[in-house]
Amino acid sequence: MIPIHFAPLQGYTDDVYRRIHHQLIGGIERYYTPFVRVEAGEIRSKDRRDIDPKNNEGVPVVPQIIFKSLKEFAYLVNEIEALGYHAIDLNMGCPFPLQAKHGRGSGILAHVNIIEEVAQAIKEHPQLDFSVKMRLGWDNANEWEPVLNILNDTPLTHITLHPRTGVLQYKGDIDYDAFARFYEECHHPIIYNGDLTTLEQLHDMEKRYPRLAGLMLGRGLLARPSLAKEYAEGKEWSHEEHIRNLRSLHQELADQYARIVKGDAQLHSKLRTFWEYTEPLIGRKPYKKIMKSGNLRNYMSAIEELR
Ligand SMILES: Cc1cc2nc3c(=O)[nH]c(=O)nc-3n(C[C@H](O)[C@H](O)[C@H](O)COP(=O)(O)O)c2cc1C
Repeated sequence: MIPIHFAPLQGYTDDVYRRIHHQLIGGIERYYTPFVRVEAGEIRSKDRRDIDPKNNEGVPVVPQIIFKSLKEFAYLVNEIEALGYHAIDLNMGCPFPLQAKHGRGSGILAHVNIIEEVAQAIKEHPQLDFSVKMRLGWDNANEWEPVLNILNDTPLTHITLHPRTGVLQYKGDIDYDAFARFYEECHHPIIYNGDLTTLEQLHDMEKRYPRLAGLMLGRGLLARPSLAKEYAEGKEWSHEEHIRNLRSLHQELADQYARIVKGDAQLHSKLRTFWEYTEPLIGRKPYKKIMKSGNLRNYMSAIEELR
């Protein structure tokens, strides 16, 4: 069995979601925070809450940072180390044009000189465990090659690869040929990420790439929060088990977000987003009822009616 990692997903996998998922479901080796970035010279207060150790107690979490320069990297690493973390994940994959166009996320992959500076800085922080989450490139699926040459020579716990370019965003064919080449050439433990949504796919990846150190799942876990747990248990849950589980997960999310989010309208819109990927699990009609619920009261009764 390969360890399953929960991918960072801005707008979904914040501290509240991660804590509840870990307590109620689990099956996850590591959760990664959505990327923390420098804005107007500092870390946003929303991101500070997300990485505050008090909000992550008992959860195996790794903060992720995104940066375009050695200066941003050094600032974020110092801030996060000061909070008591020993592991930091480096985002070299984000495809959001707002980040990538400024040389962050997948936009940094073309800037080999900056990656060289960061690699040197990593060597100067032997007390920290660094990992990298990356794509093949921004618009060129060969950009990873010179980057991997540098990273192979840099102390890292692992590299997670999502084998698409940034311009493809989250759609388009996964480049399995490029992944196979990366798998052969990478000297670090590798975690595969991208489009895994079923137990069969997890087992298939296990067979195809026996040296994999892990599988990272994002949308697949939002669609089916128990997927990693089912994989660990070695059996698929029944429809009734899924529904019971989703209802308790969402009740807990409703209770905890009610303490943070102001007003019913905002709470409704926050809670509704967590159902976006669940149509295959709950069916079209209940899914539409939740997505079109319009207000908190209708939302709650749509959940009540789930069978
Ligand atoms: C809405 C959304 C937000 C994301 N936010 C992040 C992020 O903060 N950091 C990151 O490394 N990847 C982020 N990703 C990418 C995912 O971690 C993951 O690499 C991608 O969704 C592919 O995996 P999947 O097919 O299992 O979802 C995001 C993806 C989505 C759809």
